[in-house]
Amino acid sequence: MPVFRLERFMTSSGSATRSQARGLIRTGRVLINGAPAKIGMRVDTEKDLVTLDGEPLNFVSRVVYMMNKPKGVVTATEDEKEKTVLDLMDDYAKKRGVAPAGRLDKDTEGLLILTDDGELAHSIIAPVKGVVKTYEAEVSVVPAPDAEERIAAGLTLWDGTQFLPAKMERLGEYQVRVFLSEGKYHEVKRMLAAVGAPVAKLKRVAIGRLRLDPALEPGASRLLSDSEVALMFEDI
Ligand code: URA
Repeated sequence: MPVFRLERFMTSSGSATRSQARGLIRTGRVLINGAPAKIGMRVDTEKDLVTLDGEPLNFVSRVVYMMNKPKGVVTATEDEKEKTVLDLMDDYAKKRGVAPAGRLDKDTEGLLILTDDGELAHSIIAPVKGVVKTYEAEVSVVPAPDAEERIAAGLTLWDGTQFLPAKMERLGEYQVRVFLSEGKYHEVKRMLAAVGAPVAKLKRVAIGRLRLDPALEPGASRLLSDSEVALMFEDI
C-alpha cells in the first residue's frame, strides 16, 4: 500500500514545498476525504482524496529532469554568491525539491540529471552501479601516445588518488571522448592532465544510453519519461 506522510504527498503533487505544506495544513486549507487534515497524517495514494482549497491533488511519485547545464553555473541547490543549477529550474521542480544527481564543474557543460528521488540519484552516481558517463573534451596538448592504455589500466596520480579503469577515444588531434563509471573530483580533467593533455573545454554528452537532447538550449531542462530514465542503466 503506497502510504506517505501528508507533507510528502503534497510536495510530490508539486503543490507546495514542505514548509508551505505545513502552513497550508495549519490554516485548514487541506482536506483528506473531506475532513480537515493535520500535519503528519498518513495518506494512502490509492484510496484517499486530498484537496487543497477544494482542488484534488494528484500524487506523482517522482520527477526526473535532464538539463543542458551551461558554463558558469554551479551544481548545487543553493550558493551565497554563485548562480546554481536550481536557479534555472521552474517553480514546480523547486517545490518538488529536486537536487542534482552528481556534479559537473562550474566550467563544464552538458547533461545533468535533477530528481527528487534520492535512491535513483544514488544509483546514477554510485560507482558500484557501473553507470557509464560519457564526456567530450577539447584538450590544449595532444594526449601521450600511451594515454589509452594508461587510462584503461586505471591511473594513479602523484598524490595517490586512484581512478577506476576508464576508456579514452581520440576524436581528433585535440578532441577526445572519455567514458567513466565514477565521478571523483575533477576526474576527467585530472585524468587527461595526467596523460599530458590539459582540458580546455568539457561537456558531458551521455549517461548510460541516455544522450543529451540536442533540442535543449544551454540552461534549459525537461522532464524524462520512465523509458528515458531506464536508458541510463543500459550498457553502452
Ligand atoms: N570530470 C571533471 O573533471 N569535471 C566535471 O565536471 C566532470 C567530470
